[in-house]
Amino acid sequence: MASGLILGIESSCDETSAAVVRDGRQVLSNVVSSQLIHADYGGVVPELASREHLRAIVPVVREAMQRAGVAYPDLDAIAVTEGPGLAGALLVGITFAKALAFGADKPLIAVNHLEGHIHAVLMQAETNFSDASPLLALVVSGGHTHLYLAEKEAVWRYRNVGKTLDDAAGEAFDKVAKLLGLPYPGGPWMDALTAHGIADPELFPFTQIKQKATGRTAPKLAREKDGERFDFSFSGIKTAVRRYVESHAMKEAIDARVEALRTSGLDKTKPGEATVAKVLEHFDVETLNLIASFQSAVVKNLVRQTFAAAEEFGALGVLVSGGVAANRLLRERMSALAGASNLPIAFPTVALSTDNAAMIAAAAWPKLLARDFALDTLEATPQLRLG
Ligand code: KG4
Ligand code: ZN
Repeated sequence: MASGLILGIESSCDETSAAVVRDGRQVLSNVVSSQLIHADYGGVVPELASREHLRAIVPVVREAMQRAGVAYPDLDAIAVTEGPGLAGALLVGITFAKALAFGADKPLIAVNHLEGHIHAVLMQAETNFSDASPLLALVVSGGHTHLYLAEKEAVWRYRNVGKTLDDAAGEAFDKVAKLLGLPYPGGPWMDALTAHGIADPELFPFTQIKQKATGRTAPKLAREKDGERFDFSFSGIKTAVRRYVESHAMKEAIDARVEALRTSGLDKTKPGEATVAKVLEHFDVETLNLIASFQSAVVKNLVRQTFAAAEEFGALGVLVSGGVAANRLLRERMSALAGASNLPIAFPTVALSTDNAAMIAAAAWPKLLARDFALDTLEATPQLRLG
């Protein structure tokens, strides 16, 4: 291999990213441009996403190359996310990567976004696992909640052993956050607002909320074990929060909160020390308890299924990736159980948890070694599966 340098490009959702990675693990640059425009709509608007990718792709790729101090002739390959994701968004990255590969006469490598998330962890932690296989991988983000059994052969092979039956965990976080008047995306806000121990995560067990609100017994949450499958369900927890809000006349206070955050400009900020303190002023303890209890129920569901699957398949380690892997409670509970079960566990750094192109370049490395190149007919595959 000439240089071991791969330029990765990622544009599957609302982040335009480019990165240069050496030998699948040394990140020389990882530029991520997040599309803040979607905050106005409380969710990603596909048409706007494509337009923003078009605007960002050239400067983002140029900056990644400059920061890495690399020129196109130095590269061994160009890797791009093939799917899953938004069709128009994927198309921008793929078209650009194809043109670059053609112009620079470099091979093109197609990467599954979900495999990218797994490599965000493996690129840093492969040595922790000292080649242990199989590993159990939880990919948990705004678009996905999947469990994979990852087996290392010449390249990594994946078998899907669980997925969400309704909302992705991050999607449930974002929807409940919106319902309670938090800025978008709400997952990081819920994490930050509950990290100070003010709220009681056990105050509202969700079965109780559901019973209070509807007078009926709640359906059994979580253990969805069916044969060898370990699926997830989050819409029941989400609905329980909505019912609680409706039956406790919280709407007026929530509308007032949304308005206050909007006029102060806090709705366009990310959770940092100062912004969290300011946003907290707009919350009462009941709502914070609700947020903490919701988060705790989601995390319990994730932890339970992941470790049940790890046990069932005799996994020798656990890895957790995707945007929700940044969640503090999830990391804490996963790490505690891994410690108790004597299983090595690894998470990506927070920067590598959410969508980025370094993970795409890292996942492309074994494919480069295996000369597994994409044809120039490569197309976006919005529903691409892994395993
Ligand atoms: O991986 P990602 O950047 O994009 C997708 O592929 O979806 O994940 C974004 C998702 C959003 O739903 C966001 O709310 C959630 O990850 N997220 C979190 C945290 N950080 C990001 N959810 C809970 N706690 C966090 N700290
Ligand atoms: Zn993702």
